[in-house]
Amino acid sequence: MSKNIIKNTHRLATSQARCDALAIAEAGLQAIDTQTVLRNSVELDGTVMRVAGQRFDLAHYDHTYVIGFGKAACTAAFTLEQILIDRVKEGAVVGLSERVCQTIDTYAGTHPMPSAQNYTATKHIEEVAHRAKENDLVLVIVSGGGSALLCSSMGECDQGQKLFNAFLSSGGTIEELNTVRKHISHLKGGGLAKVLYPATVVSLIFSDVPGGDLSAVASGPTCYDDSTVEEAQAIIDRYDLGQFNLNETPKDLTYFKRVHNIPIVSNMTALTAMQAAAWTLGYQTDIVSATQYATAGDTVELLQTEPAAGSVRLMGGETKVTVPPGNTGTGGRNGQLALSMLPRLQPGQVFVSLASDGYDNTDTAGAIVDQQTAATATTLGLSMTKYAAAFDSYPFFTAVGDHIDTGVLDSNVSDLLLLLTPKVATATDVITDITAKVIKDSRGNSTISVTVIAGEHAGTFAVPSGASTGAREVSVVPASAAATIVQNAIRSALVGMLVTDQAAIDQKLRTLGGDASLSGVGGNAAIGVSVAACKAAAAAQGLPVHAYIADLFGHQSQAPAPRLLVNLINGGAHAKVGSPIQEHQIIPDTDDVAAAHVAAVAVQQTLHQLLLQDFAPKQVTIGDEGGFVIPSVGIDTPFMYVKAAIEQTNTVVPILMGADMAASSFYNKGEYELEGKRLVAGELQTLYRSLHTQFPQLQLVEDPFVEHDYAAFACYQAAQPAVTCIGDDLTTTNKASLQKAITAGAVTGIIIKPNQIGTLSDTLATMQLAYDHGVRCIVSHRSGETMDDFIADLAYGTKCYGLKAGAPNQPERAAKYDRLLSITNYNTYDNQSN
Ligand code: PGA
Ligand code: ZN
Repeated sequence: MSKNIIKNTHRLATSQARCDALAIAEAGLQAIDTQTVLRNSVELDGTVMRVAGQRFDLAHYDHTYVIGFGKAACTAAFTLEQILIDRVKEGAVVGLSERVCQTIDTYAGTHPMPSAQNYTATKHIEEVAHRAKENDLVLVIVSGGGSALLCSSMGECDQGQKLFNAFLSSGGTIEELNTVRKHISHLKGGGLAKVLYPATVVSLIFSDVPGGDLSAVASGPTCYDDSTVEEAQAIIDRYDLGQFNLNETPKDLTYFKRVHNIPIVSNMTALTAMQAAAWTLGYQTDIVSATQYATAGDTVELLQTEPAAGSVRLMGGETKVTVPPGNTGTGGRNGQLALSMLPRLQPGQVFVSLASDGYDNTDTAGAIVDQQTAATATTLGLSMTKYAAAFDSYPFFTAVGDHIDTGVLDSNVSDLLLLLTPKVATATDVITDITAKVIKDSRGNSTISVTVIAGEHAGTFAVPSGASTGAREVSVVPASAAATIVQNAIRSALVGMLVTDQAAIDQKLRTLGGDASLSGVGGNAAIGVSVAACKAAAAAQGLPVHAYIADLFGHQSQAPAPRLLVNLINGGAHAKVGSPIQEHQIIPDTDDVAAAHVAAVAVQQTLHQLLLQDFAPKQVTIGDEGGFVIPSVGIDTPFMYVKAAIEQTNTVVPILMGADMAASSFYNKGEYELEGKRLVAGELQTLYRSLHTQFPQLQLVEDPFVEHDYAAFACYQAAQPAVTCIGDDLTTTNKASLQKAITAGAVTGIIIKPNQIGTLSDTLATMQLAYDHGVRCIVSHRSGETMDDFIADLAYGTKCYGLKAGAPNQPERAAKYDRLLSITNYNTYDNQSN
């Protein structure tokens, strides 16, 4: 599928039901995209043009012209030219914004009020129409908004403005408005067909009219009109609209003999695409109707009639909203409808109402509502009935945050509505219990292990913890308190929820957490539950955890499998003695996990031998992440050993070097304390430059500066464009911080640690932002680890760039490598320790 049309899906999709509803709406909008529609219905095969099954041999015509009007006209003209390659002699169209074409002139006109601009464009359209002779073919793009945009004289333009204003408050129907429009124009109501006669005319009709009456689109310039001047006058009289000069529409059928009016898109195009999308997501679907409804109440009634569990009811068309005179509320039909539906929704139901042109009388397309909307409104003290009564949906949905935003679209098939009633959860899908216990991590500190149970399935996650934690990481509460919170507050809030609704579970955890730091429950409690729920859901669905994550993440990929970032020499906060630099890594440069692992183990063994040649055995100790710790000699010494170990090991795969400077840990009051010296950022930059000169294979560098200095990161990244500069303490898996880092040009890589941000959904949202900007994601363990192997599944399921999991032989680290190896189907590695 091409780029999302709904721009704020990610923010709105806070539950599985919402996620599905938005995907269904998106499918509808994609299906009516003007370019998609034209490419699906017009094709050129040699000289033969096929339009929705009808054949026109262009070789039989002297010239082919294109004229058009309506919101879709400019994009449609542009696309037609591309499809018909060099066959369009001349053309003129009027839409909402110009588009540069080769032979067709495009004009930007005004809507819904006609104007002089519209008249200028129409004059050109008429000139082209007059040039078309008996042996010519004219393609006419007829689309919604054409009634106002096509304006055959200044007189019509003035009358059109007057008519529109008078009609707004009259209570008349759109058909009545169009009947009058046809009789104040020389082009509408079949007038254009008369001008074009005797050329062959193919009208491509983009219908915005509920019910599919072709002669109503743009007031039917190429369709026979059976209404009369007398009828138009009767309407004017009925609503007391004023004085108008009326003319009769062409009644001679000869003018229409060579006209082919071909509908190429309508409301049903969107509805059938939505139906297919809903069906693919496992819902029963029905299209209730696609016409017009007298009141919002009628629409609500129609949709709410016996909605079955696991069903999506679709409706198209238009609901009439009669706003009392003097009302100052803002918002459109769709916002009003969503407000009317809100109090009627059953638990779990989601309702979407949107204008297919993205413009619900305001800069938003419509709204999505469910009980969450109602709850937010209550929290904010907003009364939905008051806003509904005041026809003031816009400020309501702005406040609760449930507007659907697409920007103005040039497609227009009137409104799209859907009511989703969730599937009935089976016993195995519902969270039945949550337990937690206190365990010890690799450093011997207390942490929690959480189990989420859904019927006969369960998932457990043992939470890790950091030593060099970023200042912006979510809060951590003591393990025993966290266990109590999980078994009480969190348990009672989550039992009964769908375990497969990760978005809703995480939303609930955020709500309980209360603030960005999740201090109401503790980030460690939240991530424990969030990941355990993910594992339980995978079990309930009979999927490996990585496959379930791939489903959640939309099967995206930065690499076929993650590269291994293997930490061989520890320092900084992860060692009692040794280098101030926290990690010295090797990165076998391959996505063949088994080959990478074999190479990493081999280099580690060589390194051990090299260190024992230079140091006494008791001087070579083990750090927090299982790497060696050697007495502090010089900053470059550990790198020299790693480099020598790589060179002396006969590996088949090329091996890069990496480092986690964790610079915040040696930063003090504006300076960096290294090797007994105090350096400012510029001097540290110089030191890094010499490290890079000395070790060109050092290509991944994490946290080279203190965690708040985005500018220093950016400066470093600019000076070392080939190096992947990675944020960890800088970004703390936080989407907003990553956005800031991207804007500043500070990083091309990010460490992903779920416990820095507290929920799996937020972790994936940050990864999504990284993928969108080509920032490499490295899923990482923490220095205080458990035997849990979830991060291997996370790295593989998201197919991210790398997995950072420490030295391969320490049990808590080996668990991750083992899991990744077994996922990638190579579990025959030799687990030698040294
Ligand atoms: P931490 O360190 O888990 O102690 O925070 C790991 C890292 O900085 O990458
Ligand atoms: Zn780090």
